[in-house]
Amino acid sequence: MNKHLKHPVFKIISEIISSQNIQAYVIGGFVRDIILKRPSNDIDIVVVGSGIELANMVADKIDKNVKVSVFKNFGTAMLRYKNFEIEFVGARKESYNRNSRKPIVEDGSLEDDQNRRDFTINALALSLNKENFGELSDPFNGLEDIKKKIIRTPLDSDITFSDDPLRMIRAIRFAAQLNFDIKPDALSSINKNKERIKIVSRERVNEELNKIVLSPKPSIGFKLLESTGLLEIIFPELYKLKGVEVKKGIRHKDNFYHTLDVLDNISVQTDKLWLRWAAILHDVGKPASKRFEDVHGWTFHGHEFIGYKMLPDIFRRLKFPMNEKMKYVQKLILLHMRPIVLSKEEITDSAIRRLLFEADEDIDDLMLLCDADITSKNPNRVKRFLKNFQIVRNKLKEIEEKDKIRNWQPPISGDEIIKVFNIKPSKIIGEIKTSIKDAILDGIIENNYDDAYQFMLKKGEELGLKPVKK
Ligand code: CTP
Repeated sequence: MNKHLKHPVFKIISEIISSQNIQAYVIGGFVRDIILKRPSNDIDIVVVGSGIELANMVADKIDKNVKVSVFKNFGTAMLRYKNFEIEFVGARKESYNRNSRKPIVEDGSLEDDQNRRDFTINALALSLNKENFGELSDPFNGLEDIKKKIIRTPLDSDITFSDDPLRMIRAIRFAAQLNFDIKPDALSSINKNKERIKIVSRERVNEELNKIVLSPKPSIGFKLLESTGLLEIIFPELYKLKGVEVKKGIRHKDNFYHTLDVLDNISVQTDKLWLRWAAILHDVGKPASKRFEDVHGWTFHGHEFIGYKMLPDIFRRLKFPMNEKMKYVQKLILLHMRPIVLSKEEITDSAIRRLLFEADEDIDDLMLLCDADITSKNPNRVKRFLKNFQIVRNKLKEIEEKDKIRNWQPPISGDEIIKVFNIKPSKIIGEIKTSIKDAILDGIIENNYDDAYQFMLKKGEELGLKPVKK
């Protein structure tokens, strides 16, 4: 393993601990990722003694200006050196949980510390002590579990999960990221202890949830969240999409599994977190819009608008950012049916211009979402949809080149309208601006200053305004 401990910090630590006669090890994710050949820039060092003191000694040796951040309550300290974030912690008998509110005081041995870690694959340690530098300590056969692709807790799962209930979601996150299986007893322990997730802060839950969303095939994680019962607690809006109803022999598709297909599809195309979230939430309005009509069977009319309306409350509850990210997801939800509708009709230029105007710089993301939304198992249908979308895409390109609607700026400003008609700022200005915009989008006038100016004069006249003479 020595060849993996090339970072200069390891040598520095090794020298300090041998002169101080203490023991320290690299532990956790860094060691796991060496074996998995995954890049990692976070190093966790466990010290049989004080993590804070060792961090200070290391910083002194590197350079007096290296800053050490100390988290006294948790007995941890962190410093940055050559692109790596290095965290020092004293070995402890109690659970390793840096976010727990209760301070951790009891010192322990390396073995005690390994016992209280989350998974066997995360309890591997490499010695930094001179006499056995690079030697692996693997008390729970973590190496074997990595080979067999298994997530297993070092202790009885009920104990490991009650030490820190977030670990239930972490188990699923690692299963999704690494494509590992969670051992059946750990899975049933998650199911048994699921309610305890409620004591964990939403921010910590989201950090893990986002890692699931960003994993190569996120449906793996969401299916596990669902089957363990966690999904219903942490994300009821998604859980509600599950299920199939049958009336008069007519069934609708299960929108939960459809959503997961869409999410997997889009994940092949993009690593953008919020575009993936748009895929997860694109049909969130379906349960509220579901109707059974004798003529049409099951319908979800207006689900995109209902989803759009639901989004702020969902984001608030999930403690997601209430900023332009929310607006972006909202916009994609609202527009996700438009290209489909367009592809079924004779496409008019004005419909294309309106779509370009509303989607603006997110038009390409919207088209990716629409492609991902095709989950039919019938290859002929899929082919037909993709062909129709290609027609929409071509048309979008053609109109954009001609009319430049993306990032559209009104050719006539409000100030100019005020000056031309010598009026005070009022609602009427907005009315004129909107009518100019509509005229451009509807193809009544071209997207240029002169046409817009003439149109403004005409509109002003209709509204009883007279331009002042120059
Ligand atoms: N750990 C734990 N219980 C937790 C969180 C972390 O036992 N609830 C331990 C594990 O040994 C883990 C190490 O702390 O390997 C570091 O945790 P963290 O940095 O959160 O995750 P990593 O395992 O490093 O994985 P990643 O880098 O993918 O987040």
